[in-house]
Amino acid sequence: MGNQVESLVKLIKQRERGVNGKVLSFVSGKGGVGKTGIVTSLAYTLANTFKKKVLLLDCDIGLGNVHLLLGLSPDKNLKSLLKGTPIEKVIQRAYNYDVVLGFSGIDEIDELENLETANLLLQLERVIKNYDYILLDNSAGLNRYTIGFSRAAATTYVVTTPEPTALTDAYAFIKSLYKLYGYSNFKVVINMARSRREGFETFERLQLSVNRFLGIDLTLAGVVPYTERFREALRGRMPIVELYPSDPYSVEIKRIAQLETGQLLKEPKEGFIRRLIKFFFEGE
Ligand SMILES: Nc1ncnc2c1ncn2[C@@H]1O[C@H](COP(=O)(O)OP(=O)(O)O)[C@@H](O)[C@H]1O
Ligand SMILES: [Mg+2]
Repeated sequence: MGNQVESLVKLIKQRERGVNGKVLSFVSGKGGVGKTGIVTSLAYTLANTFKKKVLLLDCDIGLGNVHLLLGLSPDKNLKSLLKGTPIEKVIQRAYNYDVVLGFSGIDEIDELENLETANLLLQLERVIKNYDYILLDNSAGLNRYTIGFSRAAATTYVVTTPEPTALTDAYAFIKSLYKLYGYSNFKVVINMARSRREGFETFERLQLSVNRFLGIDLTLAGVVPYTERFREALRGRMPIVELYPSDPYSVEIKRIAQLETGQLLKEPKEGFIRRLIKFFFEGE
């Protein structure tokens, strides 16, 4: 660790009081399963229906596309934050919640330097207590960041479709996080289900493997149906949950938000930022 990084990490540790909004990490084994759609819809619903203070962080560096769904300017983004710009200057407002956009340009998020990671953590620490929920839209698959963020998050939502390859990749993600770190706070969202039944059967299949080979249980957060309205909303540049609140997609998102907010918070003893420091800088 360079000197500058060391002193930044020291500073973050001094500031960090373990007072967090609840961090929910959204991952998928495979891209294109509808993760960004679900994260933005949940952010919208938590903010507008449940009146929660929400920050959505687009961690899908390399392929960040949250701005497209929200119609925001991609200029203010995580990149300047990594270079040390205060987070207040990077946060944008969409539909009553706050957003930090990702950016494209580096292929491998693993290429982030320690200094950039430290800057990110420092800026997050400064605002994390202002929110009820922090939603992380991660890039697909396993990398240092999807693992680090998910391991530190209170809950990791694994999004998959019924498609066998998506399911296999979802299993691989869960397996890695569990085998490497004993992490098991997973909730599963089945997206693009053609019927409730197909959704439940898909979950059962995943649950069965995870149960048999890892010995842990999964929680089904929701079965989100396939709907033509998704694309229509996208064309109209409106969130589906706002444009079609009674579409089964929106209704299921509301149910997931309801389950999330109605739950007793079972926060780990240490704060999110402290757990990130351990992962990124202290090799734990
Ligand atoms: N429930 C759904 N019904 C219909 N189409 C969907 C649904 N969820 C996602 N999609 C489609 O899948 C595409 C990919 O979704 P996106 O959220 O960008 O996936 P990811 O973030 O996992 O890569 C979207 O353009 C959208 O048209
Ligand atoms: Mg995405």
